[in-house]
Amino acid sequence: MTTITTPSDLDLFSDENLTDPYPAYRALRDEAPAVWLDRVGCWAVTRYDGVREVLGDWERFSAAQGVGMNDEVNTATQGTILASDPPLHDTLRGVLAESLSPRAIKSLSGSISEQAHRLVDSLVEDGGFDAIGQLARVFPPSIVADLIGFPQDVRPRLLPWGDGVFNALGPVNERMTSAMPLLQELYGWVYGIQGSDLTEGSMGRAVYDAADRGVIDHASAPQLLVAYTAAAMDTTINAIGSAVWLFSTHPEQWDAVRADRSLIPAAFNEVLRFESPVHVFTRVATRDLAIDGTPIGEGDRLMVLYASANRDERHFGDSADEFDVTRDASDQLAFGYGLHGCAGQGFARMEAHALFEAMADRIERFEPAGTPKRHLNNFVRGLETLPVTIRKA
Ligand code: HEM
Repeated sequence: MTTITTPSDLDLFSDENLTDPYPAYRALRDEAPAVWLDRVGCWAVTRYDGVREVLGDWERFSAAQGVGMNDEVNTATQGTILASDPPLHDTLRGVLAESLSPRAIKSLSGSISEQAHRLVDSLVEDGGFDAIGQLARVFPPSIVADLIGFPQDVRPRLLPWGDGVFNALGPVNERMTSAMPLLQELYGWVYGIQGSDLTEGSMGRAVYDAADRGVIDHASAPQLLVAYTAAAMDTTINAIGSAVWLFSTHPEQWDAVRADRSLIPAAFNEVLRFESPVHVFTRVATRDLAIDGTPIGEGDRLMVLYASANRDERHFGDSADEFDVTRDASDQLAFGYGLHGCAGQGFARMEAHALFEAMADRIERFEPAGTPKRHLNNFVRGLETLPVTIRKA
């Protein structure tokens, strides 16, 4: 730790700041390129350029000492795809290459589009629904559970496990400690299974096959399965929930998407920019260095605040706090950037685009029906409930 600056006792993980983090992010961005936060013993990197710099340089900003904020989980997860540097990282990532290749994703697109239409068709019949409980928490989990090849009996545990992993990565607070039993349950399950328990041809099975072929250690297989469970679940659920929330509160933006379907990819980028599902992961400085003039000491941990970078007016201009589906947000950082940039982003885009298409076919207008409730989690941002009524197309 090198410098202590003004808002050093700020708690980014309080209920208030998790409910609406954007004022704190703006204050931090205005304060300095990196601000030391005493409460968590970490630097906060909040500006677009700084976040990109950290993510783009694994030699200076290492993930190998964990990407969370407490020693227990950082130690337990070392050597996973998220918490490793090359060459180990590249070997682990190589195992995913086939399952998440553009060709593999394309082969699933027909069935995913069908599932999206079937779900939306059934929801519109009642004239309204809870966009979290009946849509966002239904669509990705069923698709991802098939992709990874989870057996039926554990599928009901996937949501609590995913939420638990992201809470457990946080600083030592109530949310982190109460997530530990869920993490233990998840690890208990992954260490108790064999590859043959996962569906043949699935992404999960490919990991165990790679271990059998000697491409990766047997010990890495359960770790990769944990990483997939977390990475593919709450991220996409939150993105979809936030999309419906934003379309219901900005009806003119939904009109624009319906009037011009070619806007769907841009609209999804804008949802991810405006309400980034993952707020933070961390890195450790491997030497004394500086971020835009702010000195950082060797061994210091840095929070990489994707959600703040995506609202940085220095990069996205004075309208950074406006939701605008016609904006070119293709350089948003919600999927990360560089070496650890999201391996499943093609898959996530396919799910979201299919759902947006299905909703555009059947739903003319979303209207908020009651106050949405936020779901507070240390690392990811989303809603607990989102009641909407709809006008059918
Ligand atoms: C909207 C949905 C999603 C968002 C916002 C998201 C976000 C992210 C972010 C920010 C990272 C980078 C972590 C870092 O910088 O340390 C990441 C990595 C990763 N994501 Fe995603 N993700 C999404 C969906 C998915 C899906 C559907 C899958 C799998 C099918 C997936 C698999 C992964 C994996 C395996 C990594 C680790 C990559 C590495 O360390 O090399 N993600 N994701």
